[in-house]
Amino acid sequence: MRRLLVIGNWKLNGNKSTITNLIIRLVEECANISKCNMAVAPPVMYLDLVMRYLINSNIWLCAQNVDIHISGAFTGDVSAVMLQDLNTRYVLIGHSERRIHHKENDAYIAKKFFILKKIGLIPILCIGENKREYDAGHTQSVCLNQIQSVIRLLGVEAFKDSVIAYEPIWAIGSGMSASPESVQIIHELIRNYIANYNVSIANEVLIQYGGSVTPENVTQFFNQKDIDGVLVGSASLNADSFSIIVRAAENHEKSYYA
Ligand code: PGA
Repeated sequence: MRRLLVIGNWKLNGNKSTITNLIIRLVEECANISKCNMAVAPPVMYLDLVMRYLINSNIWLCAQNVDIHISGAFTGDVSAVMLQDLNTRYVLIGHSERRIHHKENDAYIAKKFFILKKIGLIPILCIGENKREYDAGHTQSVCLNQIQSVIRLLGVEAFKDSVIAYEPIWAIGSGMSASPESVQIIHELIRNYIANYNVSIANEVLIQYGGSVTPENVTQFFNQKDIDGVLVGSASLNADSFSIIVRAAENHEKSYYA
């Protein structure tokens, strides 16, 4: 059964002091959470620091990125084995900020997916259309192409025990989230697309929504049947707002069938 998954993506924010304060607060606030899964994605520099606070906690560690290589002459990169060494469970791949600022394309992202599965980490494949594609009515084809590139390289089995995060680019950091109903349509489309290949993988794969999720709007997303969690940026940098979002997941009826 699917279980709600809430992830805080801290992006390129914080320092040793603010990150320490944030993680200490979150561990306290979330100590009683048991019905949903949660994780935080600190900047890579602070993964080790955060990991130390997460030992014996119910919050998982998520990385924001990974290289396609395991080791060798790849200056500045971080491998899946290194992330695993730090008890990382989830890894974001294909986030629109990496697609845009680092020119990562679908074929390259599919290689990251491959390496994560090989090492045994859980990929969170971020997909979503930009404003121009949205305005042109291309949302569905953009999202399905991004899914298809993984299926082409790895087969649909790669989505077993994996996560997809649908994040319309225009909704990220804009304060203008997509409507829960429109997100449901895309999530259902993705699930049906995967079901064409394998029904049980489609039923199990987690599909999160991301893009200006707040404590105020999060429950409306959980109310949609194919929204299995949220990927939270700005609101995850504040312990109070992130814990409200986590508690909304914990108290949602969906959590009970997990
Ligand atoms: P946001 O970011 O919540 O600040 O819109 C979401 C994301 O980029 O994952």
